[in-house]
Amino acid sequence: MAGEPAAGAGSHWVFGYGSLIYKVDFPFLQREVAEVSGWERRFWQGSHDHRGTVAAPGRVVTLVPSPGAVCKGMAYLIDESVFGHLDHREKNGYHRHEVDISLSGRGNSVAGVLYVADEGNHAFLGPAPAAEIAAHIAAASGPSGSNRDYLLQLAQALRDLDAADPHVHELAQLVRQITAPGS
Ligand code: SIN
Repeated sequence: MAGEPAAGAGSHWVFGYGSLIYKVDFPFLQREVAEVSGWERRFWQGSHDHRGTVAAPGRVVTLVPSPGAVCKGMAYLIDESVFGHLDHREKNGYHRHEVDISLSGRGNSVAGVLYVADEGNHAFLGPAPAAEIAAHIAAASGPSGSNRDYLLQLAQALRDLDAADPHVHELAQLVRQITAPGS
């Protein structure tokens, strides 16, 4: 496709599905609303360094394999040098995973990477009932701020992308109830 933003020498596409959608503390060359197939977003990863601590981890998102599912997020074309910052930011259990990223506005796919935290990493927490996850998030905070803000900012960013995610929106509603004044 003419004008297609393929990654050139020294540049790479990165797909963000969690805080990488709304906390863009890195330079990028291009940004596109995008999606990846076969993955679902879940608040199953522990956070020791951003939204919790080692003693009291927060809960943040990872992706879990789910045939047929589509996960919407934001793709960034970055210079290779930016990986130093991103690898450090995502160091608590995430690793780079190669993936095809579908760029929504352009109707084409590009090769890229996403950061995923597999079950078995040292900080993985796994599934739990929604009420339990919400209570956990409502109580946790760490060096990057409250776990509640991480969740509510993600829920808002997904609404802005018109990317309904029932798991995230259910948790956001529960956490708002738990943390409402007088509750
Ligand atoms: C991501 O946003 O793509 C990874 C998970 C996170 O940093 O919240």
